[in-house]
Amino acid sequence: MLFLGIMMPFVNLSAQRNAYRNQLEKAEKAVLDSGCYIGGEQVRLLEQELASYCGAAHAVTCGSGTQAIEIALTVLGLEPGDQVIVPDFTFIAPAECVVKLGGVPQFADIDGKTLQVDPESVERLVGPKTKGIIAVNLFGQCAPYEKLREIAHKHGLWILEDSAQAFGATFTAKTATAAVYKMRRACTFGDISITSFYPTKPLGCYGDGGAIFTANPEYADKARLLANHGSKERYRHIEIGTNGRLDAIQAAVLRVKLQHLDQELEQRRQNAKVYDQFFAGLSGFTPQGIAAGNTSTYAQYTVMVEDRDKFIAKLDALGIPYCIHYPLPLHRQPCFEAGGIADCPVTEKVCGQVISLPFCAFTDTAAVVEKLSKEF
Ligand SMILES: Cc1ncc(COP(=O)(O)O)c(C=O)c1O
Repeated sequence: MLFLGIMMPFVNLSAQRNAYRNQLEKAEKAVLDSGCYIGGEQVRLLEQELASYCGAAHAVTCGSGTQAIEIALTVLGLEPGDQVIVPDFTFIAPAECVVKLGGVPQFADIDGKTLQVDPESVERLVGPKTKGIIAVNLFGQCAPYEKLREIAHKHGLWILEDSAQAFGATFTAKTATAAVYKMRRACTFGDISITSFYPTKPLGCYGDGGAIFTANPEYADKARLLANHGSKERYRHIEIGTNGRLDAIQAAVLRVKLQHLDQELEQRRQNAKVYDQFFAGLSGFTPQGIAAGNTSTYAQYTVMVEDRDKFIAKLDALGIPYCIHYPLPLHRQPCFEAGGIADCPVTEKVCGQVISLPFCAFTDTAAVVEKLSKEF
């Protein structure tokens, strides 16, 4: 059956803009009228606010999440031939950046319930050339850092936390210094951590943007240097860097949206519950599990479906948009295939089952469920 109505958006960015329109327009106009479009006060204040929100000592903004990973890997000293463990089930950026810098990604499998990287698979991959682990906070919840940290410590590896999808997520971890469980926010679990401000991310701007976080002042200085053409002093370049700047207008937009983030995250969790309740009553559907101790930003609401093709036919007929995150294990991507050998049976299976439904703080998930209920 062909759907002839108006399709709802997969992420409703217009509704979000309408909700904060006055604040956003005022902030955008102030930047446009200021004559300062790159760096400056808005970027400086945003960096302070991001660091204070997530509890990181330092935040350095840059041009995108991908650029943040590339800068972070350079700060960590990645050299050609170094091996880095990355999850096989994620967006391409972490593995892509490793290869771009001459490194070799080693693809680790995931846990079939939470879809986060599986620490046992990670440990099996550690070898003499392994330098670090890129842990991805997939779909909005933190990766299993307690176990990953043990592995990193045992083998002398660094951890790069890719929190592109999870700025604002929390993980209640058992701290090393006290036998208490202490809540920490994403972007504080890596030796260096990154996020993305791509427009559809839980904290998104109106173009590309990203940030790097760390507790290490030397890493922060180096990241700032690399993001500014290797320069601290005008026209004196002490490193090969890049143009890694965040525009002032994006910073101003992010500063407005950051004020609403906690409320949006709470709404996202409520919206996710509506889907959870619906799928709990159906067989053949398993939503991504949220591991104990985590809260998710639900960058995606993703469900594993036994007969995905049949479900897609129904979504098409009902006019419900969807995305497949991700259809291929990374090691099977054509760009990696030559060197992409991996033993990742869970990833292989999950790639054939996952589907993400329309989702954000402004998505009426009850209306989606009402539509779905006609078919199930
Ligand atoms: C896990 C992950 N890492 C990195 C990135 C790259 O971020 P950006 O699109 O800002 O370059 C993304 C973007 O979707 C992502 O999902």
